[in-house]
Amino acid sequence: MAGHRPGRVVIGEAELRARVAELGRAIARDYAGKEPVLVGVLQGAFMFMADLVRAIPIDLATDFISLSSYEGGTKSSGQVRLVSDLSIPIAGRHVLIVEDIVDTGLTLEYLRRSLEARSPRSVRVCALADKASHRQVETRLDYVGFAIPDVYVVGYGFDYEGLYRNLPHIAALEDA
Ligand code: IMP
Repeated sequence: MAGHRPGRVVIGEAELRARVAELGRAIARDYAGKEPVLVGVLQGAFMFMADLVRAIPIDLATDFISLSSYEGGTKSSGQVRLVSDLSIPIAGRHVLIVEDIVDTGLTLEYLRRSLEARSPRSVRVCALADKASHRQVETRLDYVGFAIPDVYVVGYGFDYEGLYRNLPHIAALEDA
């Protein structure tokens, strides 16, 4: 897209692989015998979700939910919209939300409320990246891959105006 391009690598492929493996081990330990439902938040978490579930060697189910708050740019609109819902009931199940990045926290809190209203046994959160400096609402993260600075990132699922999700690493979005 004219004007902005992926630039400096913020988190490289090897670092991503190593951290995802660690998260997988921790989740496997905590959820052994619980058959959790991992809920991936589309679209940003698709790549993280695919790598994470392969690093969790226990019985689990997967599902996806699609939310929208950015409407294309780099700033949250503050208004979260449910674009497409889960395909399985989660009542009585242990749910682990798999998020790409938590920025203002508005998307995650909207999702948490929506899932908690369905009577799951538990709801916890695994976020690949935490941009804590932007938080507008308090939110609890149970597993975090990386704390990242206040830069807009693309790659490994993260987009800018629909592009760059396919990069195998996470890069800062820079002026072209
Ligand atoms: P929040 O509601 O502000 O916490 O926004 C969370 C959502 O905004 C994430 O799930 C991402 O889809 C998107 N987002 C926030 N920061 C970035 C970024 O640096 N790059 C790409 N997407 C981002």
